[in-house]
Amino acid sequence: MKVLPHLFANNRAWAARISQADPDFFAALARQQSPEYLWIGCADSRVPANEIVGLRPGELFVHRNVANLVIHTDMNCLAVLQYAVEVLQVKHVIVCGHYGCGGVAAALEAPSHGLIDHWLRHIRDIARRRAAELDALPDHAARVHRLCELNIIEQAANVATTPIIQDAWRRGQAVAIHGWVYDLHDGLLDDLGVCLTCGDDVRGSTDWA
Ligand code: CO
Repeated sequence: MKVLPHLFANNRAWAARISQADPDFFAALARQQSPEYLWIGCADSRVPANEIVGLRPGELFVHRNVANLVIHTDMNCLAVLQYAVEVLQVKHVIVCGHYGCGGVAAALEAPSHGLIDHWLRHIRDIARRRAAELDALPDHAARVHRLCELNIIEQAANVATTPIIQDAWRRGQAVAIHGWVYDLHDGLLDDLGVCLTCGDDVRGSTDWA
């Protein structure tokens, strides 16, 4: 007998629903995937990538971790990025964070969470560099809110500065990097105005100096 039977029941109902609407759906999908988008998002259970942008299986390549970080030595994230860009030839890489991110909030507190403090250190580094801006904000909630945005912008820059993306742009491959934020309170996405399409876009932003 299977454990967690309700999840298998949900799965059967889901597969049946899709097959009913499109009998060839799974067979076609099994032959190949050709997503146009790579989503790099937070692991938070409240930010389900496919659902919030209304994309079906096969349409979104997804990598998620705590606080949607793109670390230059994270082989997991880099392998996803390399495969998405060089093999799947995605046209867009979307770094999507969210307001109320627990990882970002924890980064503004004293380190005390064990191993994950090393991970959150990357966000603390952003907070340190942007201390003047953050300190000028009225309260802790406002600082968390802004740091969620700054973190997304920083991670989009981290994507853009990987050799994977730099090489793609040198080859003339069209791939754009976006920074988006999701609001848990209304389910809506916002574009933070980050759209990097070439090396000049990265160099042109003083924010990332
Ligand atoms: Co989060």
